[in-house]
Amino acid sequence: MTNEKNHILVVDDELSMRELLVIMLEKKGYRVSCAESGTKAVAFLRKEKVDLLLCDIRLGDISGIDVLKIAKEENPHAVVIMISAFSSAENAVEAMNAGAYDYVPKPFDNAELILTIQNALDLKTVQQEKRDLDGEMSPRDLHFGKIVGNSPRMMYIYDMVRQVANTRTNVLITGESGTGKELIARAIHEQSDRKEKPFVIINCGGIPETLMESEFFGHKKGSFTGASHDKKGLLETAHKGTVFLDEIGEINQSFQVKLLRAVQEKSFKAVGDTRDLFVDIRIITATNRNLTQEVIGGRFREDLFYRLNVIEIKVPPLRERKTDIQLLAQHFLDKYSKEMGKQVTKISSYAIELLKKYNFPGNIRELENLLERSVALTSTNILLPDSLALSVNKKRWIEGVKDRRFDLDEVAHGVSLDNIMTEIERAYLEKALEYTNGNKNKAAELLGITFRSLRYRLEKLTL
Ligand SMILES: Nc1ncnc2c1ncn2[C@@H]1O[C@H](COP(=O)(O)OP(=O)(O)OP(=O)(O)O)[C@@H](O)[C@H]1O
Ligand SMILES: [Mg+2]
Repeated sequence: MTNEKNHILVVDDELSMRELLVIMLEKKGYRVSCAESGTKAVAFLRKEKVDLLLCDIRLGDISGIDVLKIAKEENPHAVVIMISAFSSAENAVEAMNAGAYDYVPKPFDNAELILTIQNALDLKTVQQEKRDLDGEMSPRDLHFGKIVGNSPRMMYIYDMVRQVANTRTNVLITGESGTGKELIARAIHEQSDRKEKPFVIINCGGIPETLMESEFFGHKKGSFTGASHDKKGLLETAHKGTVFLDEIGEINQSFQVKLLRAVQEKSFKAVGDTRDLFVDIRIITATNRNLTQEVIGGRFREDLFYRLNVIEIKVPPLRERKTDIQLLAQHFLDKYSKEMGKQVTKISSYAIELLKKYNFPGNIRELENLLERSVALTSTNILLPDSLALSVNKKRWIEGVKDRRFDLDEVAHGVSLDNIMTEIERAYLEKALEYTNGNKNKAAELLGITFRSLRYRLEKLTL
């Protein structure tokens, strides 16, 4: 819980009551301040920020309702709970209308009062998070067209997209699978003055070698068995628009030569034709291979590589921009909640923390699938860690932990040290058991702990 961060102001003219409340609340980990009169409470509220105000209605001087009103003026998001021995419906209604969260009659049940306070503060946190999100949701800051994310690395990519959009420069987009290369290619097209013209995707890995030429350049009727009529090539259909050559690393050497000419001269011959066709196209390519390595290994022509790679946009893997996880998760949550006709509106902060610990080898595509499954499985309107754990592939999660790079700067956003330690412990225990084929004595030895300690830890982690 985040109790210790919450600051509560107790206002009551009766010393014994103040003392009781202070002891009770401090025991729960809250930071508590006191005021013995309405005037002192007001002075306090004007100089310090409180999360919750617990205020008696009858004070020696000004009324508790006035303190409530001033508290709301000073900090509209503060939670106010009014307490009174002279409980009357009238007082309650007045207090609620003035913005009190609740009205508690004296004498109150201690446990119940604590629960009311806890619930009020939880609600406040949820509302705050929602406000943060709404506030942040100004389209400019949070996404770029359909691309969600505002990490510095993505902002840099948006800048590049803007800069190259209206040129004819060939762009190579590199990055692991599922990082959003296609989305970025589309964004370049949509930002360019070609946006009304076709955006043609050619999946180089999906075309049989024998059909490459005909698919790219077209063919004349009768030029080969099965060519029953003239067919336009994909490059021609993209005239005046953009061609996106996906998985460019997959094309073979002989076709690389032909493609080089087409890219260089923006002209080519259809299969079985003698005439040259000229097209006005902007070429964007993408690959999840390391093309430089392919060039060094002699599998990819250097001249073609330099033609295509005039500008390179490197899309970072999700694990290197974890600050985008919350936005992306919320984006996919909204998407699938809507699609499935569910009312899942929020992801618990703890679930987000779990997601940030996973290293997402499948990047955003994997996060999207994970959220889709989680939304399908959840029965509550807030996505809790449980519904994530249900749908995530446990083994890969552990792999993720093992590969986890320790990003100490994460601490700036708040981390759970306990969770981090537990995961490290779990990963080491599993590894030790793997090495020893499940022999607990040997595993304990490898880990430098006693057998009893190992057994205790295994039970604790339910391994
Ligand atoms: N920043 C993002 N914001 C929102 N959705 C995204 C983002 N990045 C990727 N996606 C979504 O994730 C999925 C994978 O993205 P995309 O197909 O562009 O990845 P890719 O890099 O081309 O992957 P591959 O190399 O496997 O082809 C798509 O459904 C895409 O819409
Ligand atoms: Mg792709």
